[in-house]
Amino acid sequence: MSIRMLSCGESHGKGYLIIVEGLPAGLPISKDCIEEQLSRRRRGYGRGERMKLERDEFEFYSGVRGKVTTGNPIGVVLHNSEWEKWKDSMDAFELKEDEAKEREITKPRPGHADASGMAKFGFEEARNVLERTSARATAAWTIAGTLCRRLLEDLGVAVRSSVTSVGPRSIGLPRSEEEWTRACSSDMGLPREEDEEEIMSIIDEARSSGDSLGGTFAISVKNIPAGIGSYSEWDRRLDGRLAQALMSIPSAKGVEIGGGFGLSQRPGSEVHDEFVLFSGLWTRRTNNAGGIEGGVTNGEELTLHVALKPIPTLKKPLRTFDVRIKRETSAHVERGDVCVVPAASVVGEAMTSLVLAQALCEQFGGDRMEDLRSRFEEHTKRTRRMFHV
Ligand SMILES: Cc1cc2nc3c(=O)[nH]c(=O)nc-3n(C[C@H](O)[C@H](O)[C@H](O)COP(=O)(O)O)c2cc1C
Repeated sequence: MSIRMLSCGESHGKGYLIIVEGLPAGLPISKDCIEEQLSRRRRGYGRGERMKLERDEFEFYSGVRGKVTTGNPIGVVLHNSEWEKWKDSMDAFELKEDEAKEREITKPRPGHADASGMAKFGFEEARNVLERTSARATAAWTIAGTLCRRLLEDLGVAVRSSVTSVGPRSIGLPRSEEEWTRACSSDMGLPREEDEEEIMSIIDEARSSGDSLGGTFAISVKNIPAGIGSYSEWDRRLDGRLAQALMSIPSAKGVEIGGGFGLSQRPGSEVHDEFVLFSGLWTRRTNNAGGIEGGVTNGEELTLHVALKPIPTLKKPLRTFDVRIKRETSAHVERGDVCVVPAASVVGEAMTSLVLAQALCEQFGGDRMEDLRSRFEEHTKRTRRMFHV
């Protein structure tokens, strides 16, 4: 049994529908835990006007009864609070042609899927494309990921993130538990308060020159035992599945596991994490592998790094062409964000949670949470015995 997540919806449509199938029965779910993660996804100093307008109102349709999963597919609706303003140009059957015409986008924005999506479907303008490629969809993914995070929390597995750079300014990883907590709970996703002022001024500078910024974030997963995942087939390897899920985040352009690209420049004697005996336990002094060897967890902390390009809609628009009149022009400008790294890191946690919950349900099965829990605990005990003297 695995977990499947499917979502549909458009940025300015009625809202998003999210279906999560395969979560075991008996997992406690609260509205608060979903609200908390949705509000974290709206965070960040470099966010645009839309974040002030969006209310992230959601409604459960099925699969949870009396605050506990039933084992049925979970259905959630995420409403668009601005639907009334968009209805006439987005409605399924009552579309007003003149309103729809006014909202046509014929000047594709470089860096977005506007031109490539039009090429794919043969559309004459990009509205249908950008409605679906909008990062608003990541609010829906966050809901699904939060349901999966609940399963992980129930097993004691913790997924966290921290912003590690904004534009050219490197911040580095959290150095203590307190810094991880700060990175997860602060508005800018930063581990240390002393960096905030400088980062805000870098974002302000980008905003005032009509530009945007990318950056990087790190994901950490604690308490995941050794032996989760598979080395048997290319599409079952956990490293590949995590990389795919993280790479699917809009604006992600790179994913590294552990030491990532940097490992390629160092000799093997410095890179591979040797076993050493410490307090009666065969353990590692380093974690360059990022907690995965051969597509399977090795019992160390999972560490993943994601690089985001600067977001593509610029107030000072880039050059493009008008697809109707075939003349050079400036790209379409939508109100938007300047820097989304803190928000994207929350989406990164959600996608990581989805993949790990999938892997655990595949490995330990169980229609009931208590069955999954007892098999997980049995496995954890067994792997601990293996590493003990
Ligand atoms: C949380 C979040 C918010 C985003 N907001 C914007 C935005 O306001 N404006 C924009 O141009 N891109 C934004 N993006 C990035 C684009 O959605 C993304 O670059 C685009 O869809 C093209 O996909 P790609 O970068 O993966 O190729 C955002 C991304 C994330 C993760």
